[in-house]
Amino acid sequence: MTSPSTSQPRTVEGVVDLDLPGHTISRHVYGHFAEHLGRCIYGGFYVGEDSPIPNEGGIRLDVVEALRALDIPNLRWPGGCFADDYHWKDGIGPREQRPTMVNSHWGDVVEDNSFGTHEFMALCELLGTEPYISANVGSGTVAEASDWVQYLTRADASPMAALRRANGREEPWKVRFWGLGNEPWGCGGRMSAEAYGELARTFGTYSRDMGDNTLYRIAAGAANADYRWTEVLMKALGRGLGGAEDPGFGNHAYQAISFHCYTVAGSWEHKGSATEFDLDEYYSTVLQAQRIEEVLAGHARVMDVYDPQRQVGLVLDEWGTWFDVEPGTNPGFLFQQNALRDALVASVHFDAFHRHADRLVMANIAQTVNVLQAMILTDEDSGALVLTPSYHVFEMNKGHHDAAHLPVHLRGEVPTRTVPDVRGLGGHGPSGHGIYERGPADLTTVSLSASAKDGRALFSLTNLDAEQAVTVRLTVRGTAAGAPTARLLTAGAVQAHNTPAQLEAVAPRDHTSSVRLEGAPGAQTLVVELPAHSFATVELPTA
Ligand code: AHR
Repeated sequence: MTSPSTSQPRTVEGVVDLDLPGHTISRHVYGHFAEHLGRCIYGGFYVGEDSPIPNEGGIRLDVVEALRALDIPNLRWPGGCFADDYHWKDGIGPREQRPTMVNSHWGDVVEDNSFGTHEFMALCELLGTEPYISANVGSGTVAEASDWVQYLTRADASPMAALRRANGREEPWKVRFWGLGNEPWGCGGRMSAEAYGELARTFGTYSRDMGDNTLYRIAAGAANADYRWTEVLMKALGRGLGGAEDPGFGNHAYQAISFHCYTVAGSWEHKGSATEFDLDEYYSTVLQAQRIEEVLAGHARVMDVYDPQRQVGLVLDEWGTWFDVEPGTNPGFLFQQNALRDALVASVHFDAFHRHADRLVMANIAQTVNVLQAMILTDEDSGALVLTPSYHVFEMNKGHHDAAHLPVHLRGEVPTRTVPDVRGLGGHGPSGHGIYERGPADLTTVSLSASAKDGRALFSLTNLDAEQAVTVRLTVRGTAAGAPTARLLTAGAVQAHNTPAQLEAVAPRDHTSSVRLEGAPGAQTLVVELPAHSFATVELPTA
């Protein structure tokens, strides 16, 4: 069934003040996540030194090259649920002597620990990205976490630094982002918020800064809209909540609080296919994606009460679509295709991230290669590499990294569609604090955001309507703008996706001829034509 439209103005009007830049959009909201799960690490990032696939130290060079083009700012590792089972000392030293373990969360497969700390840090160096390491709080010890920090970042002749040297790395690494466990309300220990708050303070305290390496400790946070979890963790931080004699959050056990929020199209038990879906399911999915805005606002509201000066960061360290696995693949490996729908889910998330970047300091897509909403899929048999539609959104939006947010105000009527049945629970797990009630709801089908950097403004524009084109007319004020250039990501259908046989079914193309600047400097209007189900970026030189 095709969803009826409630209101269909075919032109959307808005205004943007180029001379009034707001908060900075941290590049870390374009962060990534790689877990020992399915073929993310093994077969995805890492093929081993003996592989015929070109590699450096076992790391796939084609994957590195593709991700370098995204300027990925950070990579979270080793999980996920896996992080709370992982004992880092099993993953160092000669590979043939490393003990094996069972990856009980993901397929119950045997993990041989051939990809460990040194391999991960080498991967980060090849990618030119910052490591984000999640310590084991669920089944690990405080001493283990403390030793890991020392192993990574200590320079002297202390025992952990000596062990690192014995394993071939003389200089300490720089590590900033340090996670304190993962989903402690679920796979990370089934704890109450209060119990985890105490543990986070202890682990945070013993995860110490070494020399000039300063950790940014991230406490593991809520599922979706569980604002109470965030409140408990804010309270657990204790004093220094923004008052005059605030000692600064740098002195606290953790500097940020995370949460996870996935886009689930169906129920948790039947999430739906990544490529075989109808328009109702499409609209339901993108509506859920759009609701990330209210979840971000909800967590930020709670944090503002305890930290009005916004010193504590909010981190969305897992987000993205979660569909049924591809038929015939291991259910524990979470391998799904990635369609144009996924790209539009991503672009809508980024618009919300840009608006909330005054509190949101990082967001990590789950997961970078071969798992959930991946950037890259690698073919198991041929090894071929496929860039997904989601990859292209990350690439087209690169100009927003560390740029100043430019609020875009829409005026007048905006196009909407009534989504007859919002199918998902929005939950994460069977009871995961979803806010996505069943029943009809309205979807605004145009999503926009903008930023300014280096003498140009970058606009991201999404038309979520699967059937109708729209024209966006934005009055640009404050500064004279030069000739716009544009790129477009779309395809014949929202189900379109890339495969080894068809690598560019969904790929960006030039869209400059569908964009114009009307009027004289001082009274200019940027006009952008957006086809149905499309994502565009427009670059505007500013004087
Ligand atoms: O990304 C897959 C899993 O989703 C992660 O391991 C876990 O943190 C979440 O439940």
